[in-house]
Amino acid sequence: MGYSSCCISYPRQKHSSKVILFLILLSLAVVCSHVILIYISKTSELLPIDQIEYRRNRESLIGHLPISAVTRQTIPVALHNASKNLFESLETATLTEDNLQLGLKGISASDNEVYHDGDVFLKDYKEMNRSFKIYVYPHRQDDPFANILLPTQEEPTGNYASEHYFKNVLMKSHFITEDPSEADLFYMPFSIVKMRHDPRIDVPGIPYFVRDYVFNISQRYPYWNRTGGADHFYVCCHSIGKKAAQQAASVKLNAIQVVCSANYFVSAYIPHKDASMPQIWNRPQEDPQNLVSSERNKLAFFAGRNNSPVRERVHRIWGNDTEIRAKSDWVSNIAEEQLGSKFCLHVKGYEVNTARASDALLYGCVPVIIANHYHLPFADVVNWKSFSVVLEDGDIPSLKKILKGISSEQYFMLRRNVLKVRKHFQWHTPPVDYDAFYTTMYQLWLRRSAVRISSVV
Ligand SMILES: *[C@@H]1O[C@H](CO)[C@@H](O)[C@H](O)[C@H]1NC(C)=O
Ligand SMILES: *[C@@H]1O[C@H](CO)[C@@H](O)[C@H](O)[C@H]1NC(C)=O
Ligand SMILES: *[C@@H]1O[C@H](CO)[C@@H](O)[C@H](O)[C@H]1NC(C)=O
Ligand SMILES: *[C@@H]1O[C@H](CO)[C@@H](O)[C@H](O)[C@H]1NC(C)=O
Ligand SMILES: *[C@@H]1O[C@H](CO)[C@@H](O)[C@H](O)[C@H]1NC(C)=O
Repeated sequence: MGYSSCCISYPRQKHSSKVILFLILLSLAVVCSHVILIYISKTSELLPIDQIEYRRNRESLIGHLPISAVTRQTIPVALHNASKNLFESLETATLTEDNLQLGLKGISASDNEVYHDGDVFLKDYKEMNRSFKIYVYPHRQDDPFANILLPTQEEPTGNYASEHYFKNVLMKSHFITEDPSEADLFYMPFSIVKMRHDPRIDVPGIPYFVRDYVFNISQRYPYWNRTGGADHFYVCCHSIGKKAAQQAASVKLNAIQVVCSANYFVSAYIPHKDASMPQIWNRPQEDPQNLVSSERNKLAFFAGRNNSPVRERVHRIWGNDTEIRAKSDWVSNIAEEQLGSKFCLHVKGYEVNTARASDALLYGCVPVIIANHYHLPFADVVNWKSFSVVLEDGDIPSLKKILKGISSEQYFMLRRNVLKVRKHFQWHTPPVDYDAFYTTMYQLWLRRSAVRISSVV
């Protein structure tokens, strides 16, 4: 009302037309910015980071959409007292065209499928296996840093075994090419965990070693300069890897960082340029005999030191519970515990460390991820919603209610998918199709450039 009368009272004045034009433009701008703000606030929930994908290869785009929002998972709808019905209608939802795309309440109709698109994955995987080529920067046995640059002699062990497995297996694989002109990607084979334990380098030296390494290869070879490092990658399982690129901006901004500590909150990690790889603990290579038949009488299991606020909360609330068995000490019968539990908790510790999730899968136990901001391993290949329950810190007090609210049909689906997906979370020497090595290669293949650069300037 106010502005209409003001506009009417001006027309006869000298600069009236300019004033009116100004007012019209001003109000248009205000209206527009409000519309944009409202739009953003309404839709940001529906547009998780996963969907704003950074993809270089257009071919591999098709079929990978929609990528589901791993960090925004809403499976445990028990909180809202409707889980059974929701999942029942989810089954039938696949039948109707309208629900195919978004499903009910934001849960995609394909959330009972292990892969975002299984057909595309299988087709892509074969193509990757056939044609993908990696050039590894060569280093001599007598290099003073051979311990950091060359594969390990012994079988990988410890918390960061994934890093060593990757290098050892890659170097003997059919993906290696000696001819840089046919390479899709260039591998910088330095090991961050070896640097961490080398007194010549140690934690403070890591960023400088990486900087010097990149300087050296960019002086001696033409490949880094051609793309600013965009077709180069390194692999790191130690959480200290977040310091690797501190002195080498192009490594952070351009190169592909394959890491076990993938977290949206760590500024060193750029989702979808970089890739998330599972951390594992070494276990016997044979599957547990009672993997499928084991009676899972306990609701949930967790064992881990009290080294973070999230774990402290879990221990405080559930430490004495009989159904949720949360231990703050390591337990010796870890295999039995996991084989006897329906759910196995991964609770964020001091650093991102996903070994517990891989371990749960190994023992056929449905992982419950209680950790905000993780970019879960292989999340751009497998659909975590289909085989795990992803919660946030705030859900800890309702944990039992949430887990008990998962219907038996839904639990059956999660467990069936655990058995399907677990092969991706295991390393082998030599590698086995679809294992952690091949799946990491597949993630790298998705990140290769669609254009092979051959001209050297
Ligand atoms: C919650 O579940 C109970 C038992 O199934 C049902 O009677 C009740 O109507 C539900 N409440 C809501 C809000 O859906
Ligand atoms: C991948 O390549 C390896 C080595 O050539 C071969 O043994 C394996 O069968 C291939 N797997 C698939 C699924 O094509
Ligand atoms: C870079 O090259 C110099 C000169 O050859 C060498 O001394 C140094 O160790 C190299 N550094 C790295 C990190 O490769
Ligand atoms: C790559 O670029 C750097 C910085 O511009 C330059 O010093 C170096 O000589 C270049 N490398 C090659 C192989 O031309
Ligand atoms: C568990 O019970 C013991 C003995 O009653 C008590 O001392 C301890 O504080 C309890 N712990 C938790 C986490 O509630």
